[in-house]
Amino acid sequence: MSFQIPRGTQDILPGDVERWQYIENTAREICRYYQYKEIRTPIFEHTEIFQRGVGESTDIVQKEMYTFQDRKGRSMTLRPEGTASTVRAFVEKKLYAQPSQPTKLYYIGPMFRYERPQTGRFRQFVQFGVEALGSNSPAMDAEVISLAMELYRTVGLKKLKLIINSLGDADSRKAHREALIAHFEPRIGEFCSDCQKRLQQNPLRILDCKVDRNHELMATAPSIMDYLNEESRAYFNKVQQYLTDLNIEFTVDPNLVRGLDYYNHTAFEIMSDAEGFGAITTLCGGGRYNGLVKDFGGPETPGIGFALSIERFLAALDAENVELPIEQSIDCFVVALGEKAKDRSVSLVYELRKAGLTAEKDYEDKKMKAQFKAADRYKAKFVAVLGEDELERNIISVKNMETGTQVEVSIDELTAYIKA
Ligand code: HAM
Repeated sequence: MSFQIPRGTQDILPGDVERWQYIENTAREICRYYQYKEIRTPIFEHTEIFQRGVGESTDIVQKEMYTFQDRKGRSMTLRPEGTASTVRAFVEKKLYAQPSQPTKLYYIGPMFRYERPQTGRFRQFVQFGVEALGSNSPAMDAEVISLAMELYRTVGLKKLKLIINSLGDADSRKAHREALIAHFEPRIGEFCSDCQKRLQQNPLRILDCKVDRNHELMATAPSIMDYLNEESRAYFNKVQQYLTDLNIEFTVDPNLVRGLDYYNHTAFEIMSDAEGFGAITTLCGGGRYNGLVKDFGGPETPGIGFALSIERFLAALDAENVELPIEQSIDCFVVALGEKAKDRSVSLVYELRKAGLTAEKDYEDKKMKAQFKAADRYKAKFVAVLGEDELERNIISVKNMETGTQVEVSIDELTAYIKA
């Protein structure tokens, strides 16, 4: 019997995991500048959280959830995204009652969707996301968008395209919805079965259909831009003004429809423009969801956020040939020759490590040449050689691998010498 990893999942091995850590650490650092605090919610939730949160008409809920019954017969689901869980926690833990509002949260963790795996699309993937709850200011929309752009740019991506749209407030959406139904209903029989269901559930999502995207009614469909009421239009204008103030380039695309039901007002996606990136170019998606907290039984509270996956982030870095500045060398490799020197090397590397230095030694009784080879593999900045003779004289010979210079220092001073 051979054991294999499930389709659409990955083992992230040493050598590769450092790139993940680099992105995650940069995301945490940027969140600190922007004052977003980490939240960790469970990997699984009651299925209802996503049915209500993400929306019954979405592909995620209809086709992609990993749902199972626990031993008491309750329906549980591995989280397909982070917004619904974050809002559930915000309401359940009454974060809205805390003195400092808005509540600005971020998360990094695995999400699960039963999708057809391909480049950039996995069944388990890691999302970094932020959610800002409690602010109705268009400045918050601009902040959230700028945080995502800042992360991509800090890590080194250049070929990015930001697309924004407004889905308007409830009134605007209602008027647009009615116009969409009137537009598609007479010929809905020509559309796929999913679109036929979407017509009443959420006609906006017809515009997002991959099957019928070339149908002539798509191009002539009523645009949300013509149905935004004055307030929604003013809001959207302000968001654009702030983005311009922040020197963030964007394109308004009235056809940008997000695949989740909770959005209103600002919706946005960041795409990679890099050549050879592949078919799936969306790196990040987000938007405003002013009704969601109330849907979860909380007080009327506006919200906005985004999520991006590390998998697609890395694919975009590869497409742009960005090398991450990952430290690959160690400070010191201790070469020990002879029984007593080997014994002493155990505490020697311990002392180096305790002093905050990266240190390694040989554990396999290797010959001197093999130990030097190992030091090379570790890209050691210093190699410290301890033989019986040195041990007797209480010294150790230290070679600076960059300059080639070699000195003898007292064994007790090795740590201080390397640190200096
Ligand atoms: P989403 O558009 O479903 O939105 O996903 C956001 C991002 O997650 C995508 O742009 C993509 O980078 C990544 N992603 C999604 N599915 C996969 C997959 N199968 N494999 C790899 N990466 C994937 C949300 O999840 C919303 N919760 C975002 C949000 C937060 N809106 C407001 N707040």
